[in-house]
Amino acid sequence: MSDKDITRLTIRRPDDWHLHLRDGSMLQAVLPETARHFARAIIMPNLVPPVVTAAQAADYRSRIIAALPQGMDFTPLMTLYLTEGTDPEDVRRAHAAGIATAVKLYPAGATTNSASGVRDFEKVRPVLEAMAEIGMPLCVHGEVTDSDIDIFDREAVFIDKVLKPLRKKVPDLKIVMEHVTTQDAVDYVRDSHKQLAATITTHHLIINRNHILAGGIKPHYYCLPVAKREAHRIALVQAAVSGDKRFFLGTDSAPHTDPAKLQACGCAGIFTAPNTMSCLAEVFEAAGRLKKLESFTSVNGPLFYGLSPNEATITLQKGDPVTYPRHVTTPDGPVTVFDPGFELHWRVED
Ligand code: DOR
Ligand code: ZN
Repeated sequence: MSDKDITRLTIRRPDDWHLHLRDGSMLQAVLPETARHFARAIIMPNLVPPVVTAAQAADYRSRIIAALPQGMDFTPLMTLYLTEGTDPEDVRRAHAAGIATAVKLYPAGATTNSASGVRDFEKVRPVLEAMAEIGMPLCVHGEVTDSDIDIFDREAVFIDKVLKPLRKKVPDLKIVMEHVTTQDAVDYVRDSHKQLAATITTHHLIINRNHILAGGIKPHYYCLPVAKREAHRIALVQAAVSGDKRFFLGTDSAPHTDPAKLQACGCAGIFTAPNTMSCLAEVFEAAGRLKKLESFTSVNGPLFYGLSPNEATITLQKGDPVTYPRHVTTPDGPVTVFDPGFELHWRVED
């Protein structure tokens, strides 16, 4: 059956391998949007203050579970925010106790709330070596932060200047290059045969830098890493639809209120949780690869993390254009939902 004939698709329930849920009233507002379709998610630790220790991760997990509406089934997989002061023993304990699934590396200053991130990679080497020993993955925000490096080159430079040396020093460390945005990153992951995978966001499969900058500036399309030129977007789509086990979904759904985004120095982040599965179905259908959607959203991620894919399923049904809320409401203002710029015809059945 060619994709043209497919109007209904049942796949294992997806997981999101990179998600921002925030805290407090924002957590309350956005959590159901993910839990509605996703079984599990890797939860980013860039709160203020960041989630650094096992104890903080356990507390944050409790707050997430408490915010989950009754009847929704969702497992947060916690991460620890790596700082130069992180204690390897605390990381070991968090892993052994099932509190933390991964550790998150932000180069200091790379993005939202990353000031406590890493400047000197030698300082975190004992933590990385402990993680390699226990098989705990490192999730990496792969951008250098040097002000003299062009923002569109920061991912490619990170691969050469940081990732390659780091992988030589700690070759057994499992690494997820998160939210890759370039052909360079796709090639690097494809050429490596050990311990390296990449997540790709929904929005980077759909927008390029023109969406942000041409015809007026569009703050709702601004995120980090910033979307690159069209050739890079095409490389990402090819990687996502290929079925290659090293590529899987990490939405990086990153809610900010409209007032926080629509200002002279607006926040980076795109909120895709409500319509991600509909958007992805369109992307995979346009590529003639609907049958690979399940690998990308529901199989490759768990395999890399050493977990079982979900047994439960969701069904996507193709039909008239789907309507979804343009924003979710929080006490601090609305959070605008990602606009893919085209109609969505695939609906996740309740
Ligand atoms: O666009 C982004 N938003 N990229 C990140 O790396 C962080 C995220 C956020 O926390 O808002
Ligand atoms: Zn993120």
